[in-house]
Amino acid sequence: MRTAKARLASGDVTTVRLNSTDNAVSFDTDALVVGVHTGPDGPRPAPGAESVDEALGGRLAATLDAMGVKGKPGEIAKLPTFGALTAPLLAVVGLGDAPEGDYDPETLRRAAGNATRALAGTARVALALPATDAERVGAVALGGLLGAYSFTPYRTTGEQAAPVAELTVLSGADGAQAAIERATTVAESVSLVRDLVNTPPSDLWPARFAEIAEQTGSKAGLSVEVLDEKALKEQGFGGIVAVGQGSVNPPRLVRLAYSHPEAAKTIAFVGKGITFDSGGLSLKPAAAMDWMKSDMGGAGAVFGALVAIARLGLKVNAVGYLCLAENMPSGTAQRPSDVFTSYAGKTVEVLDTDAEGRLVLIDGIARAGQDNPDVIVDIATLTGAQIVALGWRTAGVMANDDELREEVVQAAGEQGEAAWGMPLPEELRKGLDSPIADIANLHPERFGGMLTAAVFLREFVPDGIRWAHIDMAGPAFNKGEPHGYTPKGGTGAITRTLVGLAERYAS
Ligand code: BES
Ligand code: MN
Ligand code: ZN
Repeated sequence: MRTAKARLASGDVTTVRLNSTDNAVSFDTDALVVGVHTGPDGPRPAPGAESVDEALGGRLAATLDAMGVKGKPGEIAKLPTFGALTAPLLAVVGLGDAPEGDYDPETLRRAAGNATRALAGTARVALALPATDAERVGAVALGGLLGAYSFTPYRTTGEQAAPVAELTVLSGADGAQAAIERATTVAESVSLVRDLVNTPPSDLWPARFAEIAEQTGSKAGLSVEVLDEKALKEQGFGGIVAVGQGSVNPPRLVRLAYSHPEAAKTIAFVGKGITFDSGGLSLKPAAAMDWMKSDMGGAGAVFGALVAIARLGLKVNAVGYLCLAENMPSGTAQRPSDVFTSYAGKTVEVLDTDAEGRLVLIDGIARAGQDNPDVIVDIATLTGAQIVALGWRTAGVMANDDELREEVVQAAGEQGEAAWGMPLPEELRKGLDSPIADIANLHPERFGGMLTAAVFLREFVPDGIRWAHIDMAGPAFNKGEPHGYTPKGGTGAITRTLVGLAERYAS
């Protein structure tokens, strides 16, 4: 028996509060953040920066211009205030062109994230950005919190700058306090998902993930059920069992449920939770493997979203399934050409053990159907083809219902997560025919791989249920440099989209 080492959220926690002062100049903080726009004649202070500019003798624009600051998104400059403000440090973040009407919340999220990321090492930060209404206050708070994320449990040197400890959003907008609270809850869930993705697979195997879901989930008010490998076998979860059988760390299926007495709708989420994807006997090349610790990002997003939904007390019923397995090669691993019977009863020929995500998902989707939900949404780091088609940052959304697909894409957009609708071409089904079983898990054609994976999943969606599939192979893990409120490594992608969807289905 392995002992579980708790590594979650053990880093520093950033708090956020609201202050309605209209006097940023004398606000007591270690760094004050204001926005700046691009303009035809150089940078222009954004709303919120006027009093600061005045206190600096109206020289802010000229100073930034001399420093080469244009006000573009992603730009950040730190200036000493030499006593002109109470804050010793002024941080100026680029907001791009001034909008004609309201600020795009995502512009504010990213700007706030850029600021808190650049200000790591500063204890107290106040944000005087154009947070003109509750939604924009929430955006500033969320971006600031997410930008302050850090994952340090595996560092021993203590050389990392500590993340900002205390954030204050300066705004007098109506409903601002509630927006701050929502942002805090959502940021905690996204950070939890990032922690899970970043945790090495030696410290996060299926049973450990299930244990964390049980502890954190029940604390949030979810009812949690865990099926172990024995129960999975007995109850016919052939796909989860097949994928998990090669590992010394056996698979789990976790069911998280939240209900509200005034709910009119039930929404079901199913997440791919491969705690490590080596490819199995169809082994991955070494260069594509280290990053497969992120292959549980879908289950992470489902878990994080359910925790947030419960803590927000949304008037909706929500169930989440975490399909947890470790995909390893060994003497007990499934072989290419093996056939199993899925939970839905259909038989599947496994031609490639690296196409394992779809095998665990079909069992979760079929099981979710038994809850009679109004909609099932599955979330998975399913195919490299998603990255080929849409790049690192944009998730693909496929569905058996055009309206639902558009709804998911819209929900993602509202939360500032990039997602794009993709088709399920009929002609792709034929390539999944197996010579001996009901269906094969691999299509002979490599092209359109994101779509064939979704066409495979569709075969297992219970009749009459609206279903959508989100492939976020790229967005789940940032292999590049940090940007906006997105760190390197685990991103927590799609967690916010699922919370937003639940809000749409709430009464
Ligand atoms: N987990 C991978 C997909 C993936 C690739 C996620 C890159 C994140 C980044 C998945 O299990 C997989 O291996 N898919 C195969 C499917 C193929 C064998 C049909 C792929 O995309 O190559
Ligand atoms: Mn795989
Ligand atoms: Zn995988």
